[in-house]
Amino acid sequence: MNIKHFTNHDESSAHVAQYIFDRIQTKIGESGTFVLGLATGASPKLMYQNLVRLLGESELDLSGLHTFNLDEYYPIRQSHPNSYFQEMYRSFWKPLNELNPTFEIPNGHILNGENPKPEFECRIYEKMIEKAGGIDFQVLGLGVNGHIGFNEPGSSGTSRTRMIDLTPETREANKIYFGNDLEKVPTNGLTMGIGTILESKEIVMIVTGEKKRDLFQKLEQRDTPTEEIPASFLLNHPNTTFYSDLE
Ligand code: GLP
Repeated sequence: MNIKHFTNHDESSAHVAQYIFDRIQTKIGESGTFVLGLATGASPKLMYQNLVRLLGESELDLSGLHTFNLDEYYPIRQSHPNSYFQEMYRSFWKPLNELNPTFEIPNGHILNGENPKPEFECRIYEKMIEKAGGIDFQVLGLGVNGHIGFNEPGSSGTSRTRMIDLTPETREANKIYFGNDLEKVPTNGLTMGIGTILESKEIVMIVTGEKKRDLFQKLEQRDTPTEEIPASFLLNHPNTTFYSDLE
């Protein structure tokens, strides 16, 4: 496992943002395009602020930058204040477009949690990623039960984008975003599969928060993947780095 340790979250967030910025600058310079996979949740928030500032204040032509989010609740309206659509609009697409209008908001893609045909939505999403040339760089957070995206424990390492039942732990962990009312947390999610995620050319996982300590220790001790900890499938990926601010 390739792990980089930092003493605090500010430092690791700034470091990851600078690293991704450099990657984007190089590849946009060479080919004009970059496909960035994004995660939601608390872990990458500060990194996004840094990255939006770096990209926004740069002279880069971002018309070839596409972003694809990992997951979305299901069912949920895109206009719902807690949809991942709204989260990304607020924290990434809109502020970046305001600072550097060459980034076009419609190039920020996310699974549509209000599509009445979720299987169709997932199939189309895979096609869109493929058409964009595949994901150059994927950002991940670590779920409290080891999930990545919404790939809950038991997900296969070859799974593709699909609808999934959220586990009680995940709904419990995410209820703070729904006024602490479990009833309001959607029962399902749409998520890129583990197989889909593993096709990314490079992956960064941001590990932060005391709640993740035991789990991350377990992950560090493994050398083979297990379906019980979906994040452990990253051990099969040739270019993944874990950025941890846990001592
Ligand atoms: C959530 C999301 C994931 C996120 C993870 C960790 O349920 N579906 O995309 O990466 O869990 O969230 P956090 O960073 O808030 O701990």
